[in-house]
Amino acid sequence: MKIVILILLIPFIQSCSKSSDVRGYTIIDDMVHSPAYEAFSENSLTPDGKTMMMPVKGSIARGKMPHPYSESEADALRAAEELQDPFVETAATLSRGEYLYNSFCLSCHGDTGEGDGPITSKKFPAPPSFKSSRVRSFNKARIYHVITAGFGDMPAHGSQLTIQDRWYLAQYVKKFQK
Ligand code: HEC
Repeated sequence: MKIVILILLIPFIQSCSKSSDVRGYTIIDDMVHSPAYEAFSENSLTPDGKTMMMPVKGSIARGKMPHPYSESEADALRAAEELQDPFVETAATLSRGEYLYNSFCLSCHGDTGEGDGPITSKKFPAPPSFKSSRVRSFNKARIYHVITAGFGDMPAHGSQLTIQDRWYLAQYVKKFQK
């Protein structure tokens, strides 16, 4: 009997290795040894032959929400209706809005939003005053849309300002109309 137990123990003892760096004998090694591929190496298993594959079509990068509205009036109206400011207006968001306005908008729109910024005297068409009845009628979402997509001579700023900063700016621009 003892000899039978000893014989049965042999595989267990065999499967232990002396060195902790080396795997012992594995009886069924189905998924034990997974190959580690280098991120930029070739790979015969992926459709495009690269280990790090391209993102799936339609993937959205973090912080880069698509803005599916063109500059057209119809799209501007749609944006005004469909978009909503997700940020609560506070002294801090307005102060950030002011800082951004001074950096990105003041050169054309002027320090009081009258559309008389320093650049307008240099043959650049003057923007309308934020107090004009047209801009007064815009809600925050429409201002966010103009900042993101641009309008006529006004360049789009979607690629240079984060979503959050664009909403803070929209909040701040509304303050000129008070
Ligand atoms: C390079 C100059 C320039 C800069 C910078 C600029 N704007 Fe404008 N903006 C304009 C001009 C010009 C117009 C008028 C466009 C037209 O009627 O063709 C305009 C129009 C607007 C309008 C009214 C759009 C409409 O539909 O009537 C808003 C709102 C506005 N800008 C906000 C901003 C904000 C906020 C910023 C800063 C992120 C900014 N603009 C930066 C030149 C500029």
